[in-house]
Amino acid sequence: MKENFLWGGATAANQFEGGYMEDGKGLSIADVTLASIHGQSRVIHDDVHLECLYPSHEASDFYHHYKEDIKLMSEMGFKCYRMSIAWTRIFPNGDEDTPNELGLHFYDCVFDELAKYNIEPIVTLFHYEMPLHLVKKYGAWKNRKLIDLSMRYAHTVFERYKHKVRFWITFNEINSLLMEDGSWHSSGVVFNKGDDVKQLQLQIAHYQLLTSAKIVKLGHKINKNFKIGCMILYPLTYGATCKPDDQLLAMQKLNQTYYFLDVQVRGYYSNICEAYWENIGRKPNFTESELLELKNGTVDFISFSYYFSEIEGQGQLERIKGNISIGGKNPYLAVTKWGWQIDPLGLRISLNQLYDRYQVPLFVVENGLGAEDIVLENEKIHDNYRIEYLKEHIKALLDAIEHDKVDVIGYTVWGCIDLVSDSTGEMRKRYGLIYVDKDDNGNGTLKRIKKDSFYWYKELIASNGGMLR
Ligand code: BG6
Repeated sequence: MKENFLWGGATAANQFEGGYMEDGKGLSIADVTLASIHGQSRVIHDDVHLECLYPSHEASDFYHHYKEDIKLMSEMGFKCYRMSIAWTRIFPNGDEDTPNELGLHFYDCVFDELAKYNIEPIVTLFHYEMPLHLVKKYGAWKNRKLIDLSMRYAHTVFERYKHKVRFWITFNEINSLLMEDGSWHSSGVVFNKGDDVKQLQLQIAHYQLLTSAKIVKLGHKINKNFKIGCMILYPLTYGATCKPDDQLLAMQKLNQTYYFLDVQVRGYYSNICEAYWENIGRKPNFTESELLELKNGTVDFISFSYYFSEIEGQGQLERIKGNISIGGKNPYLAVTKWGWQIDPLGLRISLNQLYDRYQVPLFVVENGLGAEDIVLENEKIHDNYRIEYLKEHIKALLDAIEHDKVDVIGYTVWGCIDLVSDSTGEMRKRYGLIYVDKDDNGNGTLKRIKKDSFYWYKELIASNGGMLR
């Protein structure tokens, strides 16, 4: 195991920071989204209704706890911390000419605090938090104006933090765009009756891919030491049986993810993209000069989230959901309380598939178990189920690195400190190694409590993974 392997944890601003109106911040789409009740889709408002409880408004209140939280990360031995910048702190409406200094200042404080403990920030620019104003005024990513507005934001933060941040990620789970609920989530797009949804999705994907490429080019110009990566949700898919037809379907499912990676890593719309266009009878509009921009903005690494795997095959398969992706149920795998299939070996397979295909460094920036925790009277939280999940996945990661020789630069546990769930808005679904005292009704002291997994992960990092060998 390399000495400089980046062990750490990950969060996203809208799920973790709170302070939704603090210091001039504007509203993002997360700020008007309610938690889901009994598994229904999350209700979205067009403005804040004062009588409602929006999970993002306070979330885990990192905004006021960042010093304490970063100290705890350091106590665990974190080498890195993946976080996102809220676009709406920097440009509250998204289309101002000048940025909000107080918003910029907040992240200066966070990066300085991380530097104090030698924790490397890994910063995602767009993690599911489109400024609400851009949705209302421009239709969000339906409008190519978003390319310029996002570039302005990226340029501002690159210039501001060029000596504080080295690792950047452009769009979180960019491939979720082509998935069921993905368009609102990742791009703030609402489809209207009569819209050619498939055509629009391809066009939005093109705008985001182009923006990502422009950002990579810009970033490297501002600081040649920047490492800028893409980020996908990797929905590892097996054939439901060894029947070749099932294998073909599984392959085609994954191709939808390679659609994005081929462009971001190889720099062009590949045969997979062309086949997809032909298959759905649509194609995005682009110019020759845009194709050149895609070519000149390829990423330095691939980062991805891995939580589950799924199957595809002919005939009736029972369908299950793992965050945004929907796939077939695998009879060999157990599921979490939220129905996500648990497949540690799948992480090793995913790492091999991705490395084999792209030959660029990989970064596992999200992995973890969403579960309910019980706090005992003595304030102990025995989350051995989480330790078990992480242990098996990290063993698989180590196997990929040590036995399969896959180049992996880091691993960050998702929601290292409890945060709001993205798919449901619940607090009850916890990923953390550190508990945050808050419930789904917004009650709680926000006190941080170390779970058993805190001590386990600390030991794991101290041994650089060695304790699992
Ligand atoms: C990923 C997202 O899809 O999954 C995160 O990037 C999200 O934002 C994570 O929190 C886990 O999903 P959930 O719905 O359990 O919070």
